[in-house]
Amino acid sequence: MSDPVIETSNNELPPSKLGTKEYWEDAYDKELVNYNDSGDIGEVWFGYDSMSRVIRWIEESEDINTEMSVIDLGCGNGAMLVELAELGFSNLTGVDYSENAVKLAKSVAEKDNLDISYEVMDILECLNEDMKYDVCIDKGTYDAISLNPDDAHGCRLRYIENVLKMLKDDGYFIITSCNWTLNELLSQFDKDFQHIHTVPTPSFQYGGKQGNSFTSVVFKRDVLSSQ
Ligand SMILES: C[S@@+](CC[C@H](N)C(=O)[O-])C[C@H]1O[C@@H](n2cnc3c(N)ncnc32)[C@H](O)[C@@H]1O
Repeated sequence: MSDPVIETSNNELPPSKLGTKEYWEDAYDKELVNYNDSGDIGEVWFGYDSMSRVIRWIEESEDINTEMSVIDLGCGNGAMLVELAELGFSNLTGVDYSENAVKLAKSVAEKDNLDISYEVMDILECLNEDMKYDVCIDKGTYDAISLNPDDAHGCRLRYIENVLKMLKDDGYFIITSCNWTLNELLSQFDKDFQHIHTVPTPSFQYGGKQGNSFTSVVFKRDVLSSQ
């Protein structure tokens, strides 16, 4: 059963350079040089634990199997897809608007002989609407988009619209965020998606309030509401 939506935030996040393409091109340029020098794949956003929790849920899920098509939106170095390839998933795609991120992700996959397809793509722009996936994964990309200095609200709405276009009718959308709380994610996505699971994440207590360092939520496309 879904958790109740207790509060809705209409506030946007403060704009940041993390919401710009220039920032990510520069960040992955450095990561690429580092990878070529040392073989270190670089930063896994929100840490390995955040990735492992999502991977564990996928592995244990009775609804998701290794034949399904999976797209990682804003894949960065592709670490999440590498983990899925190692679990036996064979239809994997990673997209990122940073050319350097895609170069890095391709190099990492090639080194381990993994069959993952990567593409430079801005997920807020026109999409190839013939391509529909069983599972869309996002770790940190909606967060980055929400920090866009020009029109964060418009970008968030376009993101949601495009995820809907990319998902098959009964597709799953798994999002990990460190900027939005569970309730905020539910209020932003529940018009078009059905909340089916919240992946347990570490919580902390501060000033008498309970919080989570990141939130991972599994949604299923709600076909009825998007008709
Ligand atoms: C916080 S990083 C997360 C990277 C990766 N998902 C991870 O967990 O390590 C955000 C990623 O989103 C990508 N990104 C941001 N906006 C995007 C957009 N409009 N289209 C495609 N990728 C985008 C950035 O280039 C960056 O790789």
